Amino acid sequence: MIGGMELTIDDVRAAREVVRRHLPPTPMWSYPVLNATAGATVLVKHENTQPTGAFKVRGGLVLIAALDGRPTVTYSTGNHAQSMAYASHVAGAECTVVMPVGANPAKVAAVQAWGAEVILTGASLADCERHATALAASTGAALVSPGDTPSLIAGVGTLYLEILEARPDLDAIVVPVGSGSGAAAATIVARALAPDCAVIAVQSTASPAAHHAWRSGTRSTRPNRTRVEGLATGRSYDLPQRHLSASLTDFLLVTDDRIAEAQRLLATQAHTLAEGAGAAPLAALLANPDRFAGRDIAIVCTGGNASPQELAMVGGC
Ligand SMILES: Cc1ncc(COP(=O)(O)O)c(C=O)c1O
Repeated sequence: MIGGMELTIDDVRAAREVVRRHLPPTPMWSYPVLNATAGATVLVKHENTQPTGAFKVRGGLVLIAALDGRPTVTYSTGNHAQSMAYASHVAGAECTVVMPVGANPAKVAAVQAWGAEVILTGASLADCERHATALAASTGAALVSPGDTPSLIAGVGTLYLEILEARPDLDAIVVPVGSGSGAAAATIVARALAPDCAVIAVQSTASPAAHHAWRSGTRSTRPNRTRVEGLATGRSYDLPQRHLSASLTDFLLVTDDRIAEAQRLLATQAHTLAEGAGAAPLAALLANPDRFAGRDIAIVCTGGNASPQELAMVGGC
């Protein structure tokens, strides 16, 4: 589904027919040492094992498949960019990605390696959005919003089908939020497959726009100072917010330092290289031990594309 407003579980099931042509389900493992640290049974859903290193690839495949070869223009701090580049490569379609000048060089190189054109401009995602909008208007390419595009949400929803078909008895799923597309997808699937499973969103205290929008019920712009790339958005996105306001259980904030600590724990106790966004759910568990004690919780390790600087910092914390 490309047009339309709200999504349903049928859209996610239809997206799975596309995704499964290209990607096997990702593993979900529990690690006893990590469980002991968290005081809960923690199931790590390993989206860091995707070919692009992040969950967004599921959405890209669904979107590009529906566009029938039409060129696209989009904007991203990195993982949505890799997703679009990968899916365009698979479909033989043209793709241009506008990224901030300071984007993670490893992500920029990966996008280019999949054959997409990268334009580096501006300091923020907002600058990139302006540039991409003008470019799409002048070239006729389809402008793809990383947050407000239904087929991207349906595509990433397939990971929640995998989680909840395997474990419909979970107490909660904890999901990191930038635009909120992943968390919105989680609510759609959880409400259909496991209505008692809480869906809890997590954002950085340094970039809390989606959190503010959810709590206040208003479209929000907030300072965007997190060093965690996948969570670095300064505004809320309407389509995810509509789903979140309908059925998200709770929305937590964690500091960037706690996220770094969670990255270190995933490396040492779960054999997992997570980028900051992928470790934010574990950070939320560790910051709220009473809330999660003794429960069965899935945390989505949404990505593993840590920059060399990030790895150096995490290694030293
Ligand atoms: C690794 C990672 N996790 C989480 C997010 C946040 O996802 P969403 O924008 O769907 O909220 C992103 C966004 O790019 C990401 O790259």
